[in-house]
Amino acid sequence: MRKKFIAGNWKMNTSGIDGELLAAGVVNGVADETRVTVAVCPPFPFLARIAQVVKGTPVALGAQNCYPKANGAFTGEISPGMLIDVGCQYVIVGHSERRQIFKESDAFINQKIHAALGAGLRVILCIGETLDERQSNRTEAVLDAQLTGSLANVTAELLRNVVLAYEPVWAIGTGVNATPQQAQDAHAFVRKRVGQLCGAAAAQAIVIQYGGSVKPDNAATLLGQPDVDGALVGGASLKADDFLEIVRAGIQ
Ligand code: 13P
Repeated sequence: MRKKFIAGNWKMNTSGIDGELLAAGVVNGVADETRVTVAVCPPFPFLARIAQVVKGTPVALGAQNCYPKANGAFTGEISPGMLIDVGCQYVIVGHSERRQIFKESDAFINQKIHAALGAGLRVILCIGETLDERQSNRTEAVLDAQLTGSLANVTAELLRNVVLAYEPVWAIGTGVNATPQQAQDAHAFVRKRVGQLCGAAAAQAIVIQYGGSVKPDNAATLLGQPDVDGALVGGASLKADDFLEIVRAGIQ
């Protein structure tokens, strides 16, 4: 049985002190609960101080991005090794906001995945179709291209440290979540493709989160789908009580 994984993607939100208070609220609420995996992903400048808040607790720390080089003349960028240095266990790559706003390609995302895994991070790889792509029946083709491109040369062994997040772009920040059936259908397709790429055992083991307007009132039905193994939560992760309700919905 795959353990559910609930992660909060804070995006470009909170101040340092508000982030600390939010992380402390999550830590207090999670207490010693280990039937579900929980992570928070604050903005870069607050990672080090929030690492102190979550240290020694079951709450993991993730970053929202990285650059696929160890060091060098890459002004403004952050390496996977630096994220390890400040206490991260996870990094999100391929978020649709980075694909759309910063024009990140699957090839570039693939480089980030290899660099992050090589440095010892676990990766949360986001994939998902736009509304236009869904309406023109291209959802599976888009997910297929994102998976094959982003996971190039990622072996079954490497995939053990990869989590997938299916995030339909039309559901992100809109208040319109995918229906549980839409999520299940996409997740089942993604798991099948992972099986073709990396083998049946890898497909059974991989955790596939759903992201896109996950809220306390829809979390339980989404997480009740057989192939929905967790949630990547944006807006609702900015309130400890809401996020903790989603965490509780993930306890099996
Ligand atoms: P919302 O939960 O705000 O829709 O954001 C989802 C998301 O993009 C998480 O990465």
